[in-house]
Parts: sequence; structure tokens; C-alpha cells
Amino acid sequence: MPKKIKQFHLIIFGCQMNMSDAERLATVLKNLGYEETKNESEADLVGVIACSVRQAAVDRIYGKLREWQIVKEKKPLVTLLSGCVLPADRKKLADKFDLFIDINHLENLASDLQNIQPEEKLALPSFFSINPSYYSDYRAYVPIMTGCNKFCTYCAVPHTRGRETSRPSQDIIAEVKKLLQANYKEIILLGQNVNSYGLDIKDEIKFPELLQKIDKLGDNFWLKFLTSHPYDMSDDLIAVMKNAKNLTHYLHLPVQSGSDAILKKMNRHYTITHYKKLIKKIRTSIPDIAISTDIIVGFPTETAKQFKETLDLVKEVNYNTAYFAQYSPRVGTAAAKMFKDDVKKEEKKKRWQELNKLIGKQSLAFNKKLVGQTSLVLIDQNKKIDKNYLNLGKLANYTTVKITTKKSIKIGSFVTVKINKVLNWGVEAELSTSFPRRRESH
Ligand code: SAH
Ligand code: SF4
Ligand code: F3S
Repeated sequence: MPKKIKQFHLIIFGCQMNMSDAERLATVLKNLGYEETKNESEADLVGVIACSVRQAAVDRIYGKLREWQIVKEKKPLVTLLSGCVLPADRKKLADKFDLFIDINHLENLASDLQNIQPEEKLALPSFFSINPSYYSDYRAYVPIMTGCNKFCTYCAVPHTRGRETSRPSQDIIAEVKKLLQANYKEIILLGQNVNSYGLDIKDEIKFPELLQKIDKLGDNFWLKFLTSHPYDMSDDLIAVMKNAKNLTHYLHLPVQSGSDAILKKMNRHYTITHYKKLIKKIRTSIPDIAISTDIIVGFPTETAKQFKETLDLVKEVNYNTAYFAQYSPRVGTAAAKMFKDDVKKEEKKKRWQELNKLIGKQSLAFNKKLVGQTSLVLIDQNKKIDKNYLNLGKLANYTTVKITTKKSIKIGSFVTVKINKVLNWGVEAELSTSFPRRRESH
């Protein structure tokens, strides 16, 4: 009887970087002869790609471990932990898994897996070029660097992923070229702080130049990047965003707080005056830009007045969307050592809800302005409902678009639409034959 091919299943708890880690890890496992399964209960190897940015995500790992303990009583199961794990958690968690793989050392996976299963004869390649098999066949996350040197006092990332390490630009360009040849439509460059790209490699090009080079690789794709730190977002980068043909007019620029005193305690290295000036400069140069942000509410010592400064800033900047989190102390970070987590849970929740309401209004107002516009949409889903197809897609700025048609629209294709109506969660549109204002018009 042929030997059964072993199946693996990975669970992703974190951000896009985390998903990109999983894609690379999956590739290594596939090179070792494993097959990926969507069904966790079929898997012989289950892995968690951890996120440490908030405690809730860490708690979910313990939940999974308890489930797998029960499965293990019935069948052999290899459990694997990788992704972003804080050193303090690593000690507690790693022992509970069969395997812990440092995400910066994926090359160890093969030999470690062999060691715990000596009876298995794994096809151990001598060299892994970790070119991932992507989860999507039209949208790809391409890591350009890993780690972070910024040490915001609340943040787990510099502790989980280490210092900034850039990937050689030739490798990145080669990967994007391959993706474009395979007809990918959206390329999202990933790094915790992309503005520092290249600074750690001698004679390497810097981020604006990298963007320019990638922009020139094709004509019919969206190019995006995450994340920019307001401290070192340069004029060069703004100029490239303005002039490049494939770079979308979308920018994620996390502010974290509207209070200078809190920003200082967060070690963010900028003031609100600097941030506002920067936003003004970007909007003057690129008037149709959509800007989103991240905010933490209830950072230690944050007073009601300081929170109000955050609300005021959000009102003034008028984001198209924002992601906010209630402060969660992370072991080993400077904030966890320096401050008591003194903003009460209920108060954090209240502040979060208040912000949520405000941003909800701003998103709605932003989407209202889109009505009447002709835009490009990248299709993500289609479903037959009665006689029609409900197609869902995204604008370049991530606004969700609903298009009802007689025939289904191909997933992963670009279509031009005219936006007719605002919905609570996006906009409704119809197919259009005219050209969008800009290729990636918002
Ligand atoms: N590199 C990015 C984001 C990294 S983490 C940046 O610099 O903006 C993603 C988001 O999680 C952060 O922007 C922050 O808003 C949130 N976050 C990070 N640590 C947190 C913590 N301890 N508690 C609550 N939210 C946190
Ligand atoms: Fe974390 Fe700050 Fe680095 Fe972003 S810039 S990853 S928030 S330390
Ligand atoms: Fe992302 Fe969480 Fe790591 S936000 S970088 S997966 S700690």
C-alpha cells in the first residue's frame, strides 16, 4: 500500500506578516513531502503561527494546546509553534509543543522535524530557497524586511522578531517579477517599518528606490506597502507615491495616540505637530490619498483629557479607516516594566467604543464621497443568489464593493465600476465601460 501522505494544518493568529510567515513555513513543509489541509482534524501536523501583540492572541494558543492534547490521546499528532513569540512566553510555551521553530531560522525546520520523528525518512534538501506557495493566486504579501529597531515601549515585535533585517533588493525584485508573470494583481510589500528598508545592508538601495524599481516591473497591478512610521516617512517616499503608476494612493500611517505626553511614554519619536504637518504635506502632494491609522487606547497613565486629544486628532485628520486596540501589557516590554496597567478595563472599553463610533462616521463620510465615481475593483468573491451573482471586491483603499451581475465576475480580476450607493460596510456599484479617473482611483 502506498504510504499515506502526511497532512499539515497551520493556524494564523496575527497580521499580514504572520500570514507571510505561514506561507513560507508551508512551503518548507511541502518541500518535505507534507500536504496542506484546510481541515484541522485530518492533520498529522498542526502548527500555530503566533502573534504576541496582545494577550488575547496568546491565550488562544493555550486553548488550542488543550484541544490538541485530547486529539493526541487518540492519534499521533505533531504540534508546532512558530511566528512571533515573546522570549518570556517562549520558555513557558515551547515545552508544551513538540517543535518550536524560530521564525528567523526556518531552515532548522527540516532537521528538527526529522529529530522528533527518527522513524520517518524525510527528503532533507540541503538547501531551502523559501519561495513560498501563496495562499492567494492574485494577491501576494512579499516581505522586504523583518524585525524592528524602534522599540515602542508597548510593542512585542522587536522582542519577537529581533532587529531590522532587510532582504536583498534583487531577491525581492525577482519574487515580484515572478508574481507579475503569474498574473498577480496586488503586491503588498511587508515590513514593520518599511522606511528603514536597506539601512542595514551596505550599498543597498533605500525604500523609495525599491518602490520605484518594483513599480516599473509591470503595468496592470496594485502596489502597496505596510507599515510606515511617521518619524521617518521621507519627502522622497511621498514623491514616489505621487508619481509611480502602480503604487496605490493608500497609506497606513499609525499615530497610536493624539497626546504628546503619551507618545513620549510610548517612545514614538514624534509629536502631534510633526504628524499633522506630515499629513498636510502628503495630502497637498497627493490630494486623493486615503489614509488609515492604528491607535492604542488606555495606554498606562492615559487620562480622559489625553484620550480627548486622540479624538480631536482623529476628527482633524479625518481618516478613511482606523484600527484600534485596548492596551495590553506585553511581558518584557519597557512599558510593562515601567508602568502599571492603570486604566481600568471598563474605561478602555468605553474609550474604544467612542473611537469606534467616530471612525465609523468618518468611514461612512469617506465612502459617501465615492458615490458617482468610476473606480477599479479587484474581485474577491462571487456567490449565486437566486438568478443573480453577488460579487464582492475591494477598491485600492480596501473599501468593500458589492456588485450584482447576471454573470459572475472572475475572482482575482480587475473590473471598472461606477459607485452608486453607500452601505454600512462599504459601497454598492455597477459595472462600467468608462475608464477610471486614475487607474487605481479611489
Ligand atoms: N509596525 C507597525 C505595527 C505593529 S503592531 C507600526 O509601527 O505601526 C500593530 C498594531 O498593534 C500597532 O500599531 C498597535 O496599534 C497595536 N499594538 C501593538 N502593541 C500593543 C499592545 N501592547 N497593546 C495594544 N495594542 C498594541
Ligand atoms: Fe512595534 Fe513600534 Fe516597531 Fe511598530 S515601530 S513594530 S509599533 S516597535
Ligand atoms: Fe504581526 Fe503579531 Fe508578529 S502583529 S509582526 S504577528 S507580533
